Amino acid sequence: MPVAVLAVSLSCVAAAQSPTPAPDSETFDVEQLFAGTCGFCHSEGGRAAGKGPQLMNTPRDDDFIRNRIKHGKQGAMPAFDGALTDSQIDQIVTYIRALKPRAG
Ligand code: HEC
Repeated sequence: MPVAVLAVSLSCVAAAQSPTPAPDSETFDVEQLFAGTCGFCHSEGGRAAGKGPQLMNTPRDDDFIRNRIKHGKQGAMPAFDGALTDSQIDQIVTYIRALKPRAG
């Protein structure tokens, strides 16, 4: 039993020391957030299609994009309501609108 208790407390320490910054800290970096959270499915920072569609030059309006991020799509994309604040989602919309092909 003591071994199990030790293992549990050690994993708690590891979790507490994780360097992941608070998501809504002042230094929130939308590009980094996108790469880490969305990049798995939206390749090249959203510039190319992957598991999900290309987001650069999307014809969708801001409300559609906000809704898709908040509510996801059944069987296709997870919902980020709760994981991301409204202001973070707004910043992602701005980020998507500003996407340009990478030079080179
Ligand atoms: C597990 C894969 C996955 C992840 C992670 C993911 N998406 Fe998606 N996303 C998709 C798929 C698949 C679609 C297409 C859904 C459909 O069929 O309408 C999509 C659609 C979208 C759309 C609508 C594009 C359009 O033209 O219809 C936006 C905007 C979007 N995602 C943004 C994001 C953002 C921002 C994140 C990160 C916070 C994210 N996605 C994370 C898979 C993902």
